[in-house]
Amino acid sequence: MNKSAKRYLITAARTAGKQAHANYSNFPVGAALETTDGEIITGCNVESSSYGLTICAEQVALAKALSEGKSSFKTIAIVGPNPDFCPPCGACRQLLYDYAPDLSVIMTDGQNTKTVKLSELLPLAFGATKLERKRK
Ligand code: THU
Repeated sequence: MNKSAKRYLITAARTAGKQAHANYSNFPVGAALETTDGEIITGCNVESSSYGLTICAEQVALAKALSEGKSSFKTIAIVGPNPDFCPPCGACRQLLYDYAPDLSVIMTDGQNTKTVKLSELLPLAFGATKLERKRK
């Protein structure tokens, strides 16, 4: 992925973060998920007064995409409110892995970008194939 494509996806994530409902944490996050066809679906975090019901930006983007019939993804960009990389939380890593194990994850600190494979963020992952029952 070239630099300007990365910048475009990061900008989409940053823009999505402006819609965040993050009144409890005051930590708005935006995510932009790119399909293998080059389509971009965005999400922001949505918090609840019952804190545990909070939905992360990446989960919103993924659910939006899947619910619209888009199920093949190549890249996600994530932008938090700080001039610091905002890596996906553990729950998001698992959910993204279930639908896009080869995903590239782009983060920015406002100046530089960092791109890592999801498999680096979630080594020895649990996934659908692990559910297959085997005879001993
Ligand atoms: N958050 C995300 O949206 N994505 C992540 O991967 C990390 C955390 C949100 C959840 C919560 O609304 C806020 O950031 C603080 O944890």
